Amino acid sequence: MITCHDNSRAMPEWCHEDGEVHKYLPDDVTGRLDMWHHRLARANPIGLSDDQWVGQRTGDEGDGDGGSRHGDDGTGPFATATTDDDGNPQWVFDPATTGGAFAFPFNELWTSPLRNFVDDTAEDLGPNAPNPVGIDYADAIAMGYEPSEGDTVPRRRLRMGEGSRGDITAFGTTFTASAGDPLFGRWDSNIQRQLDTGNGDDTALADGNIYNIAFSVHTGMVTVRDHHVSWSYTMSLNGGDADFQAVKIDGTGTGTLPDFSDTDQFPVMDLNLFLPGITSYEFLIGENAGLEYIDPATGNAVDQSHAGSAGMLDQGLGCRDCHTAASSETFDPPNAGGFNGGAMEALAGQRGGVNTPTPLPPG
Ligand code: HEC
Repeated sequence: MITCHDNSRAMPEWCHEDGEVHKYLPDDVTGRLDMWHHRLARANPIGLSDDQWVGQRTGDEGDGDGGSRHGDDGTGPFATATTDDDGNPQWVFDPATTGGAFAFPFNELWTSPLRNFVDDTAEDLGPNAPNPVGIDYADAIAMGYEPSEGDTVPRRRLRMGEGSRGDITAFGTTFTASAGDPLFGRWDSNIQRQLDTGNGDDTALADGNIYNIAFSVHTGMVTVRDHHVSWSYTMSLNGGDADFQAVKIDGTGTGTLPDFSDTDQFPVMDLNLFLPGITSYEFLIGENAGLEYIDPATGNAVDQSHAGSAGMLDQGLGCRDCHTAASSETFDPPNAGGFNGGAMEALAGQRGGVNTPTPLPPG
């Protein structure tokens, strides 16, 4: 899991035309993985999550554009705005819902409270309802909107999801800003879904079974593999031995949330998350030696030889024999033959030398 492919999305061998190659399942996985995608900054303001699934890259059913992450059937909780031939946005704010504003100035990007808008299915959803509404650009012009340079509107218009894609809610999710900076803080994420939704693209959960689950956290405005993942764990639903024992409680998704601070009833489990796909497997084992990629940020060629590859292949050394995790750690190789190659904290960002998205292959 700490390696990825040279042709994973945004790796050097990847081309945009390849589509979103970003999930590789083991060959013996025949079904789908259910993916509960709670986008806190996106649909959470209207109390909804997104519902997706992951399939094999080859032979996928799905939307056919080559990716391996797909939306469930139905419509998700947002629509993405287009621009017209003149570059005008599809929607701007309805001033009747914003105290008069059709848009906000770009330099208020971090401070404007106008972070999202909704269509008429979602005006009353979420903890901050009534929500600002997005109306057609042409209607806004007819109402007297005079656009000026720097006017900014959200990229997505939120809406009530429909069908299987709309069957996860996110009631009770909260953000508590840390002292001194309203944009940093702590999320408490709550999502709800029926154990068995009856939809073919959802995994039905039933008493007595054990399921494989894993978690990921995407934070810091990153994309593709720059997020944190957990190992895979097991979860039991009133069943046998598993890492997580799910607790059955009365009530429905829209009801009052249980008191999760009651750690007797809801024992806390801490998970360590880590960055996956730090570098490609080919780079690590030395297969990329001699290759050069051009880092688009600097225009410089980046060398692809990993000084640890021979130690790994010939001496059976592992990462810990030549790297610490943090720079502050004392270097203490478990096996003879290792030497200090540096801390992953500093090296991981280099990613085999190419550290910006979508590097260009030579020529
Ligand atoms: C035998 C020693 C050795 C082993 C084992 C080893 N490395 Fe390295 N690694 C090095 C050295 C030395 C460097 C710094 C010079 C270089 O880039 O080759 C390095 C550099 C790196 C870099 C930075 C790449 C760059 O562009 O500079 C990453 C990432 C990395 N190693 C990951 C790993 C991982 C993950 C493992 C285990 C799977 C591992 N290494 C095992 C010696 C080792």
